[in-house]
Amino acid sequence: MSQGFVTGTYIIAGLLFIMALAGLSTQKTAGRGNVYGIVGMAIALVATIFGPNEGGLTFIAIAMAIGAVIGIFMALKVEITQMPQLIALLHSFVGLAAVLVGFNSFFGYQALGPAEKAAMLAGGMVTVHLVEVFIGSFIGAVTLTGSIVAFGKLQGLFSSKPLVLPHKNKLNLLAIIISIILLAVFLQQGGLFWPLLLMTIIALLFGWHLVASIGGADMPVVISMLNSYSGWAAAAAGFMLDNDLLIITGALVGSSGAILSSIMCKAMNRSFFNVIAGGFGTDGSSVTEEAGDMGEYKEISAEDVAEKLKDAESVIITPGYGMAVAQAQYTVAEIVRKLKKNGTKVRFGIHPVAGRLPGHMNVLLAEAKVPYDIVLEMDEINDDFADTDVVLVIGANDTVNPAALEDPHSPIAGMPVLEVWKAREVIIFKRSMNTGYAGVQNPLFFKDNAWMLFGDAKKSVESIDKAL
Ligand code: TAP
Repeated sequence: MSQGFVTGTYIIAGLLFIMALAGLSTQKTAGRGNVYGIVGMAIALVATIFGPNEGGLTFIAIAMAIGAVIGIFMALKVEITQMPQLIALLHSFVGLAAVLVGFNSFFGYQALGPAEKAAMLAGGMVTVHLVEVFIGSFIGAVTLTGSIVAFGKLQGLFSSKPLVLPHKNKLNLLAIIISIILLAVFLQQGGLFWPLLLMTIIALLFGWHLVASIGGADMPVVISMLNSYSGWAAAAAGFMLDNDLLIITGALVGSSGAILSSIMCKAMNRSFFNVIAGGFGTDGSSVTEEAGDMGEYKEISAEDVAEKLKDAESVIITPGYGMAVAQAQYTVAEIVRKLKKNGTKVRFGIHPVAGRLPGHMNVLLAEAKVPYDIVLEMDEINDDFADTDVVLVIGANDTVNPAALEDPHSPIAGMPVLEVWKAREVIIFKRSMNTGYAGVQNPLFFKDNAWMLFGDAKKSVESIDKAL
């Protein structure tokens, strides 16, 4: 394939990626968006493999075969609830790739003959090239260790509690300042290896510290932030490799990740800087409160819940992480069908960070063929709870916690939540009085209009379905 042909296919692939992102913005068009993305990536791969390249096809084929085997194995094995950690791990690969490309580009330049170096110098390309190498390696190294820590936290290998080193923000600032000084040294010396190596070590520690010091409840923002970093790392690699498509794709991933992070920060009422610098539970407030402090809670049986549902005119279901763990969505969808047949108005209220992935609940409900028009976002449904007879909180906890609004000292203070307690009656499906992801107890469970239905959410909804 000629370079011109490759460039042409890259433009088509770039357009397909943009169409993929546009498609993924609504549930109805998401399937189509995925197809655009897959076709775009297939075109990009073919053009890259068969385009002009120096290494020959053998190594590419071996690397792709190994990658494909690992990728297929992981994709088949992973549970949907483990998706965030898989994504974190994949981000770390992008970071590692950017560091390797950076080092490779550096040594590639050093290995040039005097005539080629002189030509680059004359064209003013050396400084540009060295800055690309330095920045690409920096972003890559931060993404690499940051993603490994995020993976470890989500997988339960590391504590989800924030690491609080003394003067942690000053340490971060220091790492950035030293890296800038190293960049100046690196450029003045026309590309010395030691400043690059030292900066990479500092960036690895910086990435590790940055994510380790963020508390568990902020992890969704961290994941999308790392997604954004991995995009910028890929774009930096694109500059170093002179690959336009990698630059376009990296910029798309980088900016869409940044937009998603900002949307999630808004959903949790956190500023982006606050997430990076702070983290829930770092202000000394107690993270886990004893259930006993909050009073008495009442239990209810599945049969009694079925009776309440039969009598209700309006029902809202607010699912959370527990519904995903229990895989209760299919039976929930069946209950919805029965209630609708009975003339009950049934809708879903989805919190933007319910579950462990952006859109986690929407995916589960779509899987169970729940019609999109009854699945509403938090902002669309929050005013309707007061006029609702029964709310079913299925495996959700933090996203329905009134302490976020009522207790200024709560670690989740200020996070907008689904105001389920305003309904006439609320049934909470969970297995125990344990806390949710943020580790805070929930005063909702102790309210007069709240009932606990203990047990695995799938078993509970199956019993209700039977009773209906
Ligand atoms: P959580 O606050 O995590 O609460 C889930 C509840 O489900 C738990 O209290 C648990 O109680 C219950 N549960 C677990 N397995 C169950 C099962 N098999 N059957 C019945 N109940 C079960 O969930 P949420 O309300 O969805 O809030 C999400 C939290 O995760 C937020 O803090 C959010 O910031 C964080 N987070 C979100 C994301 C994204 S992007 N969505 C990513 C990472 C973290 P028991 O143990 O008593 O059963």
